[in-house]
Amino acid sequence: MSKRKTTLEIQALKEQGQKITMLTAYDYPMAKLMDDEGVDMILVGDSVGSVIAGYDNTLPVTMEEMLYHTRAVVRGTQQALVIADMPFLSYQVDPVEARRNAGQLIKEGGAAAVKLEGGEHVAHTIADIVAMDIPVVGHIGLTPQSIHRMGGYKVQGRQGAQAKQLMKDARAVADAGAFCLVLEAIPAPLAQQITRTVGIPTIGIGAGPDCSGQVLVIHDILGLCDKYAPKFVKRYADLAAPIREAVGSYLSEVRDGSFPTEDHSFQ
Ligand code: KIV
Repeated sequence: MSKRKTTLEIQALKEQGQKITMLTAYDYPMAKLMDDEGVDMILVGDSVGSVIAGYDNTLPVTMEEMLYHTRAVVRGTQQALVIADMPFLSYQVDPVEARRNAGQLIKEGGAAAVKLEGGEHVAHTIADIVAMDIPVVGHIGLTPQSIHRMGGYKVQGRQGAQAKQLMKDARAVADAGAFCLVLEAIPAPLAQQITRTVGIPTIGIGAGPDCSGQVLVIHDILGLCDKYAPKFVKRYADLAAPIREAVGSYLSEVRDGSFPTEDHSFQ
């Protein structure tokens, strides 16, 4: 019988020098496919807002939406560790609300861990949630919930002061008890330095090859995203083409009467 990966096993992968694999998923069938392939961790990212719901950014995503997608992903998986993103405003306003929302993603969503964005300034929130025995993944660098402060989706930590702050952020998140840290869109040498400094695994997305593991958005790697793809995305398939072809064939066959045939009808 298969068993879900645990945070301890993820930590062990780093210690053994084995790369950790993570992908985003938002629904049952996609989660099932990647779980069958043996992905270590699945992130139900708040990227669901832009990828699935068609919002301009992740800010409108609600707890309700995160719970709905997390449940679907959990139902589709047997072995991957499922992490649910805490959406904007679910942890920034009030510490009690932050703990309750984290707990809800575990209790009602079925996730095994939560992820939240930010460094030093959210370390106390991370510590609070960890104290409830809820594993936390940190996320620093390009943090999409801070898009208005950052002035767009830009590489972070290029200047000395910014790089120093990111190192401080990484330490604060690790010291607060996070079991893992996502590094998004930061220079590769800085990600390497952070990975060597903090004891916990780092998961890179646009952070070079020296992180403990990598994460990408599933729709990006499958060629299913019609929006601008950042430089760090590698497209492993172009699934938009066969989908368009299949839909096109269906439309023609319905219109010209060649579908359905007797094979698809009840007598
Ligand atoms: O929301 C998300 O999908 C993420 C990953 C891109 C790290 O935070």
